[in-house]
Amino acid sequence: MPGVQVLSHPLIQHKLTLLREKDRSSSSFRRLLQEISLLMAYEVTRDMPTQLVEIETPLERMQSPVIDGKKTVFVVIMRAGAGLLDGMLDVVPGARVGHVGLYRNPDTLEAVEYYFKMPAGMPERDAIVLDPMLATGHSAVAAVTRLKATNPRSIRFVCLLAAPEGLRTFREAHPDVPVYTAAIDRQLNDHGYILPGLGDAGDRIYGTK
Ligand code: URA
Repeated sequence: MPGVQVLSHPLIQHKLTLLREKDRSSSSFRRLLQEISLLMAYEVTRDMPTQLVEIETPLERMQSPVIDGKKTVFVVIMRAGAGLLDGMLDVVPGARVGHVGLYRNPDTLEAVEYYFKMPAGMPERDAIVLDPMLATGHSAVAAVTRLKATNPRSIRFVCLLAAPEGLRTFREAHPDVPVYTAAIDRQLNDHGYILPGLGDAGDRIYGTK
């Protein structure tokens, strides 16, 4: 699917397999998620702009490239998106963090917004939206629509698992936003869960079930 990149690095795939196992503890789940998100950050930021700065090595002066981490804003879709944040911040510690709070109406599966907070100066920032599960796509579409109103310089969407239905919905609504995922699973079930999936990501991160 154009605009969708499956991150097939063996380390990401290995850790994803471990994450999917139903008997994994919350602490192990969180740890794996942090490791995977660090590896995903590496792929997602591959074409991040750099600028040359003058530094001094022990031997001489040189021009050398650096990123401007502060220009990156990780946008967490609450609450499960927070599970991907620590690994991303491990590699881009200077990044800012925004939050979008959405809940799924259980009858319509539509997303309803209850919280939205972004750093100032969004037109100068590259937004990387985090949500482990792209299921129906409704919350992802709503979050990115709302984010676009702040006019960021660019937007990318990162998830761990995507359902084909959610990917189609998202790409139709936001064809300009590239999606990075570790896997595209088979389908959604009648409750909007991804199959085979990994269950409810928020519950598994926070041990709330
Ligand atoms: N959200 C989840 O946490 N899991 C799914 O399978 C779908 C949506």
